Amino acid sequence: FSDFLTDTFDRQHDYLRISVTERCNLRCLYCMPEEGIQLSPNKELLTSAEIYYLSALFVNQGVNKIRLTGGEPTIRKDIVPLMQQIGSLRRNGLKELALTTNAISLHRKLDAMVEAGLTGVNISLDTLDPFEFQLLTRRQGFDAVIKSINRIQEMNKQGAGVKLKINAVVIRGLNDHQIMPFVEKTRDEDVEVRFIEYMPFGGNKWSQKKMLPYSEMLDLIRQKYPDFAQLKGAKNDTSKTWQVPGFKGRIGFITSMTHNFCGTCNRLRITSDGNLKVCLHGNTEVSLRDLLRKDQGGEPMDEQAFEAIRQIELDRRKGTGLRYDGEEGWMSKEQQLLEVI
Ligand code: GTP
Ligand code: 5AD
Ligand code: SF4
Repeated sequence: FSDFLTDTFDRQHDYLRISVTERCNLRCLYCMPEEGIQLSPNKELLTSAEIYYLSALFVNQGVNKIRLTGGEPTIRKDIVPLMQQIGSLRRNGLKELALTTNAISLHRKLDAMVEAGLTGVNISLDTLDPFEFQLLTRRQGFDAVIKSINRIQEMNKQGAGVKLKINAVVIRGLNDHQIMPFVEKTRDEDVEVRFIEYMPFGGNKWSQKKMLPYSEMLDLIRQKYPDFAQLKGAKNDTSKTWQVPGFKGRIGFITSMTHNFCGTCNRLRITSDGNLKVCLHGNTEVSLRDLLRKDQGGEPMDEQAFEAIRQIELDRRKGTGLRYDGEEGWMSKEQQLLEVI
């Protein structure tokens, strides 16, 4: 494993998330305003050839999982050929190729994607009620999402082996009454429903009151299912996994707000305009796109990219991670360290 991708906390960054577009076909209340977001000019965005080049570069250094995200990745016109290219990196050690999607147009492309090597799909779905879906996303499309979910399950029955997760951001007073319907969905379906603690992000109107903490979600589920039990998780999981005994599916909790998981974080991110980021909350970025497009002056690109990655890792050593500390608000790494000393 490349030591470029290992930091001083001994975290091996073997999981790369690539945003392939900033556009989205939904307008979720907590994420995007009705008018959408200011889009970058096309020339600033990575081309598919560049995305493939960077994917290969990272896989050759030891990355074994790539997740394509957005915006909404499935609306990128050439998403299928791009996945075919990235999928071919299995030869170089890529083990998982996953997608985070709202699944509105997924069902149309799913078969081709699975053929290309898709191994996992995380679907963002905050409610099982079609009317509420329209309120939360400001768009139609609930039936299309369900169609995508059904298609994945159908393909899995034929042995496709696509790991299916549903991500539901839980907001008090908005969709918290959906927790139990989602739990019921895991009774007969082989799916992992993950409840995400609502986070302040992109200028949304987050408040402490609207965030339903992990402990409260557990209490609610335990009221009906006292035997609700935690399963053993993998080392770098962002979620804690639980199951109602006898149910086919599982329930996960992404506790970004109440339990920080920076210590085991193994992710690297590339934004749609080609910036490398090590932390969701940090703003240290370095442009891999500019390195790719610059005249190399005889020096191979990879060396320069490695140097850039090294720089950003150095910054990470200083600590870009944040932790949410209940009443106190966000704490910097420095504050956290001071607390320990
Ligand atoms: P898996 O590969 O299934 O583990 O996916 P994932 O959970 O890494 O990815 P997904 O795109 O489904 O993201 C789900 C949620 O995880 C996001 O809404 C975030 O809340 C949270 N998350 C993902 N990555 C990070 C991270 O690096 N830091 C924090 N704090 N939260 C993250
Ligand atoms: N808090 C928590 N999760 C969020 N997501 C988007 N915005 C927020 C937020 N403010 C979720 C999406 C998707 C995942 C990638 O991030 O619903 O499932
Ligand atoms: Fe990783 Fe940064 Fe998130 Fe911590 S805050 S889990 S270091 S991305």
